[in-house]
Amino acid sequence: MVESGALGVVGAGVMGSEIAFLGAAAGDHVTLVDTDPGALAAGLDRARAIAQRRLAKGRLTEDEARGIEGRIRGAESVSALSDCAAVIEAVSERMEVKLAVFEAFGEQLGADTLVASNTSGLSITDLAQAAGRPQSVVGLHFFNPASVMPLVEVIRGAQTTDAVVDRAVELAKRYGKTPVRVRECPGFLVNRVLVRAMVEAYREAESAGVDPTAADAAVAHGGPAPMGPFALGNLVGLDTLLSISTQLEGAYGPRFSPGRLLADMVESGNLGAKSGGGFDVDPDAPPTKAAAPVSQRYYGAAIAEAAACAREQIADRRDVDLALQLGAGWETGPLAWAASQGIDETDTAEV
Ligand code: 3HC
Repeated sequence: MVESGALGVVGAGVMGSEIAFLGAAAGDHVTLVDTDPGALAAGLDRARAIAQRRLAKGRLTEDEARGIEGRIRGAESVSALSDCAAVIEAVSERMEVKLAVFEAFGEQLGADTLVASNTSGLSITDLAQAAGRPQSVVGLHFFNPASVMPLVEVIRGAQTTDAVVDRAVELAKRYGKTPVRVRECPGFLVNRVLVRAMVEAYREAESAGVDPTAADAAVAHGGPAPMGPFALGNLVGLDTLLSISTQLEGAYGPRFSPGRLLADMVESGNLGAKSGGGFDVDPDAPPTKAAAPVSQRYYGAAIAEAAACAREQIADRRDVDLALQLGAGWETGPLAWAASQGIDETDTAEV
């Protein structure tokens, strides 16, 4: 079955509003839900601003932009989603918040609704249990900025049926994305690799006294990633990144430890692009020799984690590389890049 018609998106943050745009751009009528009226209004504005930006760039006609904007409406309760063919949850990355949303899904959504979570790494199986209908729940993990990055990770929970996984794959394709099926594990695939590399770079920069601009220049010029880890943290949201790395540290150990630089930023309320503030970076700065170790640690960690994901069959080697290219904009995936540079993937950072 190919989904069409009505999409519900729960959580009107950056990710939710970008997903709402994607649904409306594919022709679906989208209801964006947030219990906070201020957050809802901001999310609706954000989704409509994407259409306006594309109109200004000549990528949409006026009619198309108007059509997209007209297909997105707001609501303050999940009860507005009872007729949706598919619902995607994109609330804050905290288990207790997501569990409450999934319990409401169990009570309020139609029996045939495809129920997806955009969690960046929490257990789909646990969320599915909370909904009381575990067979129809799946992970659909988009990447920032979701209106631009082509990848969606599709994650099957322990009880998700084949038919539901197929519907999720079709939905992702209809929204113009490339779905990659990923075996469930904390952080799934791309965040395991990317967050591992980012926090490794943060810790190295902190201990070596390298500032964020120099660290970012070293990484952006030292390998296939399109931007450095500090600018990327600002883009993703530093609170989201801290929460993911803390969860992954709990699951995998100290290699995911966020370090003080990130924790201090979040404590001071500087959360990156969404709040204003964040790490101070100049994307045009040239690379310096002194910062080169940050780049080595970044790519070493990414390669090691990517190799571990392939070994654990989280995805096959080709998909590991493809996912980093499509989800994080890498010119070459980490495993192929390691091979091209003569780097032994078993001899990088510890996993
Ligand atoms: N928000 C929304 N759209 C943005 C954006 C932002 N912050 N930054 C750039 N864009 C859009 C631009 O408007 C443009 O859109 P258009 O094609 O519709 O005109 C498009 O992105 C390309 O932008 P630019 O040409 O200005 O810039 P670049 O070519 O430098 O690309 C980038 C910008 C796409 C952000 C690129 O640098 C990139 O791929 N970076 C890596 C991003 C990444 O790693 N994302 C994954 C993060 S992990 C994650 O999201 C998982 C989650 O669970 C935490």
